Amino acid sequence: MSKEEISVLTVLYSSTTVGGELVIEEEEEEKVNQIKIVARRLQRRYALKFGISRTGPKFEEQIQKAAAVVFCQGGAVRILGIDSKVERSLLIPYREIKVECTIPKDDGTLVSYVGFRVQHDNARGPMKGGIRYHPEVEPDEVNALAQLMTWKTAVANIPYGGAKGGIGCNPRELSITEQERLTRVFTQKIHDLIGPHLDVPAPDMGTNSQTMAWILDEYSKFHGHTPAVVTGKPIVLGGSLGRDAATGRGVVFGTQALLADHGMSIAGQKYVIQGFGNVGSWTAGILHDQGGIVKAVSDVSGAVKNDKGLDIPALVKHVSETGGVKGFEGGNAIEASSILAEECDVLIPAALGGVLTRETAKDVKAKFVIEAANHPTDPEADEVLASKGVTILPDVYANAGGVTVSYFEWVQNIQGFMWDEDKVNSELQKYMIRAYADIKDLCKNHNCNLRMGAFSLGVGRVAKATMLRGWEA
Ligand SMILES: NC(=O)c1ccc[n+]([C@@H]2O[C@H](COP(=O)([O-])OP(=O)(O)OC[C@H]3O[C@@H](n4cnc5c(N)ncnc54)[C@H](O)[C@@H]3O)[C@@H](O)[C@H]2O)c1
Repeated sequence: MSKEEISVLTVLYSSTTVGGELVIEEEEEEKVNQIKIVARRLQRRYALKFGISRTGPKFEEQIQKAAAVVFCQGGAVRILGIDSKVERSLLIPYREIKVECTIPKDDGTLVSYVGFRVQHDNARGPMKGGIRYHPEVEPDEVNALAQLMTWKTAVANIPYGGAKGGIGCNPRELSITEQERLTRVFTQKIHDLIGPHLDVPAPDMGTNSQTMAWILDEYSKFHGHTPAVVTGKPIVLGGSLGRDAATGRGVVFGTQALLADHGMSIAGQKYVIQGFGNVGSWTAGILHDQGGIVKAVSDVSGAVKNDKGLDIPALVKHVSETGGVKGFEGGNAIEASSILAEECDVLIPAALGGVLTRETAKDVKAKFVIEAANHPTDPEADEVLASKGVTILPDVYANAGGVTVSYFEWVQNIQGFMWDEDKVNSELQKYMIRAYADIKDLCKNHNCNLRMGAFSLGVGRVAKATMLRGWEA
């Protein structure tokens, strides 16, 4: 094994290191080989495509993301004692789609982009997941994200499997008409493989409700008017009330459940939030409305702090006028890099993946970390935080509010009946509170932390559905 592989595996299997030496048990060999294959493929592709160092931060981040999912799933499989053949069937995606999308640019020249859709599992229902437009869309990462969606929908107990897709393009370099042509061509290529009872895409990085409106329109040319083919649509085309706020609202419901478990409530606690976009700003606003003291927030422009609590509605107004939290007069400017180390009760990373590392985790002063972003905590940081007694509410549960309200949107489209916002919010609360209770039951029965509890709940539900459906050829 190369030094590099050992370092990746040591991170992933940090719980099995003894005195700094990597110890891999025999039954883990197969999983290790799988991770090595993912690592090698990513390494080669990233090095070739972007000319980056094979051990550079981008490579490390991609490896971490892809492998963390495999790692957590592996832990869950061990906890649940799942048969290795079932495990293999859970790991391999149901279908991987790769299509070439050629469009004329506005100046008449032709340009081609590659689009992907990985449909991971449909044992519990139609597959569900975002479509992202990003220059670094890459099949192995899409695959890991599709798997994560399978476990996330299962944890939330909504009747879906998992999928993810995207087009390797930079939407900022495309005009709106070029984006529309690209979306329509992509939809033409995959229209018979998506659908309300097959696979239901949603917006993700670089896509939005307008992208979903184009997919709906193009799909409907082939299949008749079908709003339930996508979620995250504009309200006039069948989008759900409450969808914009749903991930942030779900984060708050999850936090509420966790704090209640510790005899605490939202009101009166001090919160620090990294990221003030869709998820961070809604989370901050709802916490503020419920009496939480949001003492510091950061975004890409900088960070602000007020020990008495920031006036979040005023900060939202400032951000909409200036584009960032920098310069907000209701607080003092602080270094954005120190946000994770701020004194508080609850720390909420709501921006990027991989921000809590072995180094940054050492400085965390919060008692609770709520993973509003995807993969904010790497496996090493997990250990450091556990040794400090910090409780982590894992992303696979904490940010599931968005996909849960996407499910409500699909239900409303199929019912042909629109719910009012109070109904959407109260149903979301039910789903989040119930999922927390289910995770806690698993944690108690298997003596594990919330991350392993959540993964075990999700993997267990999918495994059960898979076995009940059977494999008859
Ligand atoms: N939007 C959803 O429904 C949803 C659902 C599930 C998970 N997530 C995850 O939540 C996270 C945030 O998503 P979003 O929709 O709010 O994105 P967004 O683009 O609306 O906001 C991202 C925020 O992060 C900030 N940011 C970027 N780099 C930063 C840095 N270095 N330091 C501090 N702040 C930085 C940006 O300024 C912005 O305020 C992502 O990890 C996303 O995958 C989002």
